[in-house]
Amino acid sequence: MTIRSTVQNSVETAHKTIRFVRRGELVCLNNVPPSRTLLEVLREDLACTGTKEGCGEGDCGACTVVLGEIEGPALRFRAVNSCIRLAHSVDGMALWTVEDIAGEDGDLHPAQQAMVNCHASQCGFCTPGFVMSLFSMYQSHVVSGNQPITRALAQEELSGNLCRCTGYRPILDAAQAMGTLPDVPVDQAAVLQKLQQLKAVKQGPQAGSTYQSPLTLQQLLETRSDHPDAQLVAGCTDVGLWVTKLHMQFSKVLDVTRVAELRRVEDYPQHIAIGAAVPLTDAFAALVVDRPQLRTFANRFAGLPVRNSGTLGGNVANGSPIGDSMPLLIALGANVVLMSIRGHRDLPLEKLYTGYRKNVMAADEVLAWIKVPKAGAHENVQVYKISKRYDDDISAVCLAINLEITGNVVASASIGAGGVAATPVRAVRTEAALAGQPWTQATVTQAMATLRAEFSPISDMRASGAYRVQVLGNLLQRYWLESQGMQQINLQAFSLNEAV
Ligand SMILES: Cc1cc2nc3c(=O)[nH]c(=O)nc-3n(C[C@H](O)[C@H](O)[C@H](O)COP(=O)(O)OP(=O)(O)OC[C@H]3O[C@@H](n4cnc5c(N)ncnc54)[C@H](O)[C@@H]3O)c2cc1C
Ligand code: FES
Ligand code: FES
Repeated sequence: MTIRSTVQNSVETAHKTIRFVRRGELVCLNNVPPSRTLLEVLREDLACTGTKEGCGEGDCGACTVVLGEIEGPALRFRAVNSCIRLAHSVDGMALWTVEDIAGEDGDLHPAQQAMVNCHASQCGFCTPGFVMSLFSMYQSHVVSGNQPITRALAQEELSGNLCRCTGYRPILDAAQAMGTLPDVPVDQAAVLQKLQQLKAVKQGPQAGSTYQSPLTLQQLLETRSDHPDAQLVAGCTDVGLWVTKLHMQFSKVLDVTRVAELRRVEDYPQHIAIGAAVPLTDAFAALVVDRPQLRTFANRFAGLPVRNSGTLGGNVANGSPIGDSMPLLIALGANVVLMSIRGHRDLPLEKLYTGYRKNVMAADEVLAWIKVPKAGAHENVQVYKISKRYDDDISAVCLAINLEITGNVVASASIGAGGVAATPVRAVRTEAALAGQPWTQATVTQAMATLRAEFSPISDMRASGAYRVQVLGNLLQRYWLESQGMQQINLQAFSLNEAV
């Protein structure tokens, strides 16, 4: 397939105007450089210092704000980290900070009042972030009435907020208490109307702009071809740290997250195609439909605000050897589709990588889709993440195992691993050691030795090489034991009890 370029080259000179809805009003910001973060704009340009900066790298949640976008007929609320979010990325959205949610008469929002009532704050530095995660939860679950806030749900949705003094029990209490307090409603109809007005003036790529947000795939490919030197970004949960920690500045940014085609999950008879710009929250939700056992793993990817901004395409394209989605996608036999105006190509995900954070993408190519085969009748997929913390942490080792066992024989084996090489990898030798063998402890013991010998992982702050080798084999043994019904060794089955 060939797509012809129609967009002319242009000289980058202008910073696009950022337009968003806040406190029911339209906010327009001019002359914001493309690398400026949303937190910088809030605190330094708009003097809204209620939103705090803790880590500046998406870990602590002190900077959490909530974004609203039109989704179908309704408003979708998402908590995100403003410290690593580029300010231009909120163009066309509604934004709430901790300063925006109390009633006009000063009545605290239930998210705030519940924190007060439950004594859920001490030094208070983390509190604005917690309040905003609670606000998002309130709008998404209490107002919509679609799900009661259980202890487990509260813990899951507060996974991106850290508190160093209060302890989490009163904060979880506040999450559950919000729904019992008098409502301080967001006028969703008014916000939706304003967002529709904004949508009407949005024009996609603007010649000469330093921040390009194409709305269609065609526009994206043409803009990429014309500006191969622009920094391509999606949710910025990696790139944002290059700005805040490495102090990088970009003269041109090309944002893929508005491209309509790349925001869709498409369902086909044999596979689903996940658009590269689908947020991790939604991409994992799509994977979990077919394979519910992946839910725990999905919830252990970073914390919710990172999953709300970060995209599956960004995780795959970034190619970190300790990225979590790739071992799983390799084990599931996923392919990636790369596109440029010259055409497209389709390749197994593991073939995308050529070395440490290097890949086969040409300067004018983008990752467009991740194609994931649907669950086979006899498949047994498990994925194990080993990290120092249960929530909001990066893997030391990640192992995804997908075996088809028929008549007690391993009919096929597909295994992806992370944290053991310079790229996410397929464990081809271990697959060969398992395929065609009887599914017995003897086969597993032999395959464990093969798996341990297959990679030579490095030692770093997350784990020593020797630990990684040891744990690889242990995880295969665990898979075997689980296949024999030994679920009690599965720590992920741990669940939080309701407060008494
Ligand atoms: C606090 C925190 C915790 C984290 N925890 C985890 C974790 O548990 N597991 C894990 O795997 N990761 C984790 N991450 C890393 C991060 O969330 C992911 O790598 C994320 O998926 C990147 O997606 P993004 O949309 O934010 O990409 P961006 O940061 O916008 O981009 C990342 C890279 O991908 C490129 N890119 C993006 N989209 C495309 C495209 N369509 N085509 C070509 N290139 C593209 C960009 O140019 C850039 O080089 C964490 C990050 C943070 C900040
Ligand atoms: S300041 Fe810590 S997550 Fe943003
Ligand atoms: S109240 Fe001090 S960090 Fe949470």
